[in-house]
Amino acid sequence: MSTTFQLDTATSRAHPTPAPMKRLTIPAIRQRKQDGVTKDPIVMLTAYTARQAQLLDAHCDLLLVGDSLGQVIYGLPSSVPVTLDMMAAHGAAVVRGSYHAAVVVDMPFGTYEASPEQAFASAARLLKETGCAAVKLEGGEAMAETVAFLTRRGIPVMGHVGLTPQAVNVLGGYNARGRSDAEAQKIVSDALALDQAGAFAVVIEGVVEPIAIDVTKAIACPSIGIGASAQCDGQVLVTEDMLGMFERVPRFVKRYEAIAETISAAAARYAEEVRARTFPGVEQTYQPK
Ligand code: KIV
Repeated sequence: MSTTFQLDTATSRAHPTPAPMKRLTIPAIRQRKQDGVTKDPIVMLTAYTARQAQLLDAHCDLLLVGDSLGQVIYGLPSSVPVTLDMMAAHGAAVVRGSYHAAVVVDMPFGTYEASPEQAFASAARLLKETGCAAVKLEGGEAMAETVAFLTRRGIPVMGHVGLTPQAVNVLGGYNARGRSDAEAQKIVSDALALDQAGAFAVVIEGVVEPIAIDVTKAIACPSIGIGASAQCDGQVLVTEDMLGMFERVPRFVKRYEAIAETISAAAARYAEEVRARTFPGVEQTYQPK
């Protein structure tokens, strides 16, 4: 596995390497929230490839190599089958393609829940093989001991509460959480447990807005919302959702582009020109001197 953390643009189709910027650190992200106030909201997007990372990097504080890559890249039915090998390969690509944002890599299902020791082995592998700055794991109170174990051993951890997609088989689907008082209280106590265990930030996914606001006020570290509230300390979206890559648009996604239509239209024009033998044209062919 590669431990070269910078993309060699001489051999790639990408633009030349930009003047290296100082990469944001996890303590700097954590310090954005001071005494309950975040003046400068944290911008996070998912990235799975080096080129995607290059394009997003300058605009983001954090790039998340999410295990959503299972569905988005691999066409899997959920994030449950995602492996540590997949996360390591995509994490390394994203680190190679970025210079500015801190890179966080998701710990996939089954690689951290059994014990803090199991989590340490998986997280250490991700840090060593990818060069990422931190890992993210799902779950609240049940994961607090693990978060403390990793943090004390030099591995920054981002928590993830509310709708936790790896638990889809227990939750029974991807509906918003926190509609009952009991569920709402559980989400708040989960986030507090992670915060107190040393998480540097907590993702709040798919919860009714007042709960997201309650959590944001309750925890000392920044909250990162997705399907949560604009009052969270930062926001994250799956980049392909935000770009309009898929027909299905969850309520919490805002489409900033219609990339699926752009790709289909380009493929249709290409197919037409191949069938009409108008591609390749003179500009795309090599002629004898
Ligand atoms: O896997 C992922 O992309 C995530 C974000 C949606 C927060 O966990």
